[in-house]
Amino acid sequence: MERTFTILKPDCVKDGHVGKVIDKILSSGYKIIGMKMMKMTRPVAEGFYKIHKGKLFFKELILFMTEAPCIVAALEKENAVEDYRTLMGATDPLKAAPGTIRKEFAENISRNVVHGADSPENAIREIAYF
Ligand code: RTP
Ligand code: MG
Repeated sequence: MERTFTILKPDCVKDGHVGKVIDKILSSGYKIIGMKMMKMTRPVAEGFYKIHKGKLFFKELILFMTEAPCIVAALEKENAVEDYRTLMGATDPLKAAPGTIRKEFAENISRNVVHGADSPENAIREIAYF
């Protein structure tokens, strides 16, 4: 069994998509290992996304991630990391495949409803971070 890490981002919570997104996660075979709602502070958001520090969208990303509560969760199933990236869809919802979370619920490339770890190593690190 593999674990991945997800964040249901502030837009997901504010716009009332949490129930439907969790439903999609569960119906895709994931077991929820841990889950909590929290409002990220700026240092926590900056630490989490430090790989993007210096990029043009970094400031906007940190403002977005700290604007309202989010939900962080550890999820488990076979091939969890790769399958969750598929379930989320592309970063830009315009490029996301039909049926994916971002295609169905995301406004744009910045406000895109969910985060998913991009490797098993990062999943372990991100679960520990929260
Ligand atoms: P995530 O880390 O949140 O799962 O998203 P991702 O792998 O699909 O995309 P990544 O390149 O890691 O970008 C992290 C988040 O930054 C915001 N972003 N905005 N305005 C833009 O051009 C832009 N590009 C990225 C998004 O919230 C993206 O999910
Ligand atoms: Mg990423």
